[in-house]
Amino acid sequence: MTDRESGLVEPVDVDALVQRLEQARAELEERLEGAGDPAQLEELRVRYLGRRSLVAQALSALGRVPAADRPRLGRTANEVRQAMADALEAHRQRLLAAEKERRLAAEALDLTLPGRPPLLGRRHPLRIVLEEIEDIFLSMGFTIAGGPEVEYSSLNFDLLNIPPDHPARDMQDSFYIDASRLLRTHTSPVQIRYMQAHAPRLPVRIIAPGRVFRRDDDPTHSPVFHQVEGLLVDRGVSMAHLKGTLLAFARRLFGPETRIRLRPSYFPFTEPSAEVDVSCTSCGGAGCRVCGGSGWLEILGCGMVHPQVLRNGGYDPEEVSGFAFGMGVERIAMLRYGIDDLRRFFQNDLRFLEQFE
Ligand code: DAH
Repeated sequence: MTDRESGLVEPVDVDALVQRLEQARAELEERLEGAGDPAQLEELRVRYLGRRSLVAQALSALGRVPAADRPRLGRTANEVRQAMADALEAHRQRLLAAEKERRLAAEALDLTLPGRPPLLGRRHPLRIVLEEIEDIFLSMGFTIAGGPEVEYSSLNFDLLNIPPDHPARDMQDSFYIDASRLLRTHTSPVQIRYMQAHAPRLPVRIIAPGRVFRRDDDPTHSPVFHQVEGLLVDRGVSMAHLKGTLLAFARRLFGPETRIRLRPSYFPFTEPSAEVDVSCTSCGGAGCRVCGGSGWLEILGCGMVHPQVLRNGGYDPEEVSGFAFGMGVERIAMLRYGIDDLRRFFQNDLRFLEQFE
């Protein structure tokens, strides 16, 4: 039971209460010195001005003190309450000002700091090699032609003399869009497209760089990669022209000491066909790990354009002849830079990409 309910009134020692109020005021001022954040400030406010604070108790005791003491206690309690509220507010302002100061200092413009260099983009290693290949052929009088990445299977296969049962046509090897279209598996259909658009004019002298697609994925095969196709058609074109062109190309790309050799091979769209090797870019031909000890590195396929392919392009194989070649840009870039895993070109790891210029 409280005093009030019991009707018993505990005598109030006014002198002692006034003294404790003054003490509390001094105590708060001292504690404020150590209050560094708003939460501590709030704690002090509740403790010294809240419902259970000494000030609140003193005010509620007013009715129980003798009338003669009432003004003195009332005045003291109100003064102390006001002083405490003022002190709390003053300290709150100090904290705000200090915080503002800190932020300004943090944001201040310091002209002595070193500048932040802007991030500069650079060419992708494949782009560097591709542009080099283009420059070499442009300087030899070739122009650049292109074709779509979604290609008709007739252009990708049939018109290139690739028979219906050729394994490259398998659903497992190619990405089909529908029964008659697929993502081109090589840049060779550009040969047909260009000849059909150009015939019967001579000469045809193009390279066709571009993206090609196959269902492969391992350290030396990616489902997306790049090729550069080459095609030259004119009167009297021979295998000697092909070999001379490719030797000039290899020496420009890999250095003047480079040698090439042609090995007999087979492609449906060329006859005869050959694989071209360059003398090893790492050992010069003596034999090392890069070339597997043989001294040679395979870089492209080529041959004399098959008479049926010339016909499909709108040219008469009795009157004209031509050569063609196709190379993988990734493979050449790997040889050029000594890169071991083709997939690095597509992983977008800046630590890798930043090494090329
Ligand atoms: N299209 C062939 C491939 O992707 C490469 C090729 C070989 C292209 C011989 C040619 C060529 O033009 O004559 O494997």
